[in-house]
Amino acid sequence: MRFSRSAIAAGLATAATFMSAEASSSSSDVLVLGKGNFTENVANEPLMLVEFYAPWCGHCKALAPEYEKASTELLADKIKLAKVDCTEENELCAEHGVEGFPTLKIFRTGSSSDYNGNRKADGIVSYMKKQALPALSELTADTYADFKGKDRVVAIAYLDATDKTSLDAVTAVADSLRDNYLFGVVNDAAVAKEAGITAPAFVVYRQFDEPEVKFDGKTFNEETLTNFIKAESIPLIDELNAENFMSYAESGLPLAYLFADPESKDLKSHVDSLKTLAKANKGKLNFVWIDGVKYSQHAKSLNIQGEDWPAFAVQDIEQNLKFPLEDLSGDLVGKVTDFVKQYTAGALKPSVKSEPIPKDQDGPVHVLVADEFDAVIGDDSKDKLVEFYAPWCGHCKKLAPTYDTLGEKYKAHKDKVLIAKMDATANDIPPTAGFQVQSFPTIKFQAAGSKDWIEFTGDRSLEGFVDFIALNGKHKVSVDLDPINETEQATPAKEAPHHEEL
Ligand SMILES: *[C@@H]1O[C@H](CO)[C@@H](O)[C@H](O)[C@H]1NC(C)=O
Ligand SMILES: *[C@@H]1O[C@H](CO)[C@@H](O)[C@H](O)[C@H]1NC(C)=O
Repeated sequence: MRFSRSAIAAGLATAATFMSAEASSSSSDVLVLGKGNFTENVANEPLMLVEFYAPWCGHCKALAPEYEKASTELLADKIKLAKVDCTEENELCAEHGVEGFPTLKIFRTGSSSDYNGNRKADGIVSYMKKQALPALSELTADTYADFKGKDRVVAIAYLDATDKTSLDAVTAVADSLRDNYLFGVVNDAAVAKEAGITAPAFVVYRQFDEPEVKFDGKTFNEETLTNFIKAESIPLIDELNAENFMSYAESGLPLAYLFADPESKDLKSHVDSLKTLAKANKGKLNFVWIDGVKYSQHAKSLNIQGEDWPAFAVQDIEQNLKFPLEDLSGDLVGKVTDFVKQYTAGALKPSVKSEPIPKDQDGPVHVLVADEFDAVIGDDSKDKLVEFYAPWCGHCKKLAPTYDTLGEKYKAHKDKVLIAKMDATANDIPPTAGFQVQSFPTIKFQAAGSKDWIEFTGDRSLEGFVDFIALNGKHKVSVDLDPINETEQATPAKEAPHHEEL
């Protein structure tokens, strides 16, 4: 779960590496602050954003032009942005608990809280504007029209002044989602009437797709309103990138991707052609399109083999299940529609990446692959220890000799104890395992007859493993810890090198 999200986020984040910092303009609206003038500048501002940075830091350089732009845009709202160079202002940065760069903090008359927005100019502006308002703004005939268009997503509740129950629900939603959306409430019947709306109502105004969507559920409570705004704030088909990936992952819904070449003249028509399908599946699947050229690694991680765009895939992020559909030739919409129909009906099998099943197992450690996973792990007669590794992982390489010795030691007990390893970059851990790995190596144990996995977190020494197996295994097999007599030993078979990239 977390593995899949973080891995994808990391994959997408690599894009940030390619974003070069634009040259910043010489005249700047960002205040430069130091120890001598920090307090006097911050203490009296009702709302201010401060960046603690280091000139050498790459993410700071990428942020700089965005920060400048946001600062200029926020002048109109009298919200100041400031920065502190922590290489010059060690003490000041330490005082504010700065541990990494850049650190962004919001200050309200001198007291600070974390900034939770993104690092794009638009995102900073939108976030700070929301911070400047109460979580729920009371709207009047004068402020109503302007408020509706103030942000990408604005929610307005129309309530009778006496309707305390609905107001409580709306207030609760606004309090918990104030960082994400703007919330207003109209109590003035005349304003509601002019808008053509009868209270109680909850309307989401958007700068994409249909500009106005009204909550039409029966129950008007915190949960139903929260679900409504979360669903309606996602465009039918947006472009997926490192900035918005997390919001899709957090929605908990499977993600349907159209991988496309952004240079293709068909891009727009392909994206538009899927809107009807996206709409029909709202609340079940989120649809996005993604730059297949830039994110080709991400396509690979969804088991899309080639790099011929467009291609399509559905990913169940929660369970890390992948459903690739590569051949879209001829009838893109027809093929995708059919595929999605099968997916939502539960008729599709997830794609599980696997190395071929090894012809023989003559190495000290059993080489486990995805295609053989269920058969090997399903063998109830044995205690099973499995290392999930990545070929590039240093700790895995360091562990290898010990793990080989362990495998060698248990060869005499191979009807009772299996010592196995799986290259988790070349094999998907099948959904039947019930877990995904988040780091390498991950070592898991399943006692004979049990379906439960225990994570090995002990000392990765021969003794550590042997004690663990003797303690947790059904068969309680222990082996001696003497070094293996090399002269008796056949040289362990060398593993074939894997060249898979993560
Ligand atoms: C605050 O002090 C720093 C030097 O520590 C100076 O560079 C900066 O211009 C000053 N900023 C303001 C707003 O006075
Ligand atoms: C290893 O095995 C060989 C042959 O069985 C024996 O001669 C030798 O003494 C053994 N060495 C050790 C260190 O046990």
